[in-house]
Amino acid sequence: MMNKLPLPPHDSMGEIVAGCIAPHPPHVVYADNPPQNEPHSEGGWETLRWGYAKLAKKLKTLDYDALVIFTPHWQTYIGTHFLGLPHFKSKSVDPVFPNLFQFNYDLGVDVELSRALHDATKEAGMVTMMMENQDFRIDYGTIVSAHMLNRDWDKPIVPISSNRSRHYYSVEVMNEQARALGRACRKAILESDKRVVLVSTHSLSHRHFTTEPPIPEDMSKQHIYNHSNYVWDMKLIELMREGKMREVIDLMPEFTEQTMAETDSGSISWMMEALGMPDYPAEIYGYQSVIGTGNVVAAWDPNPETREVVL
Ligand SMILES: [Fe+2]
Repeated sequence: MMNKLPLPPHDSMGEIVAGCIAPHPPHVVYADNPPQNEPHSEGGWETLRWGYAKLAKKLKTLDYDALVIFTPHWQTYIGTHFLGLPHFKSKSVDPVFPNLFQFNYDLGVDVELSRALHDATKEAGMVTMMMENQDFRIDYGTIVSAHMLNRDWDKPIVPISSNRSRHYYSVEVMNEQARALGRACRKAILESDKRVVLVSTHSLSHRHFTTEPPIPEDMSKQHIYNHSNYVWDMKLIELMREGKMREVIDLMPEFTEQTMAETDSGSISWMMEALGMPDYPAEIYGYQSVIGTGNVVAAWDPNPETREVVL
């Protein structure tokens, strides 16, 4: 299923062709009923899934070599890790929702690009290593976002671990470290011959219910956890629409603390720095609650000629 052949070299230098916020509740894969996932559903979360489908359709029109995915669910405590082997095949089971997500994956990694990101990170003075354990299990955050953005799995991926400096230090330290990582990754990509789509996979507000309805896809049970989180999410989306990403990143520590947001991973700070801190409007593809969390699908297209006002 995967295209594991080496990609032909490009004449041009490296380029970041898009950046995407791609949330990873396993519910969206469960609701989609792909052949790789064993549990079966009657659907659900259409607003989010249709938004994802529209963004995936746009990505099909872009010429790119790899999806570079920063994931909160590959958590490392000593530095940032990158995958160093070309092929991984196994089953990913969500530890919280094994009833929804048992996904048989078979995926390719762009090791050349992965190593280039690793080397640039090291050169910038950060602790890093290549993960070269063939039994390493790919996290569900990477799989859900990669699947929803590219159901054909015909592009290699480059997952990046989330160093949990928040737990040793603070959200502020984590944010700054992620930004430094973003600058290193930007440099490495621009100096490579790769065209890349960046993926920051996370929800916005992340307080969630602790019980599940008898039918998980019962849409009558889905709503945001509380009004405060809703207002925070909408504020962030408004700033994204206005192209005020520096303000969003400056708000990250407060937003993360107040809404228990998954942005504590540093992923959006990483992506915005890697994109060169966009001052142009985001493309908003959809927003929906999943078990109380707030989820937006959004993209940043650096090319004004292909950038769209989606919603
Ligand atoms: Fe998550």
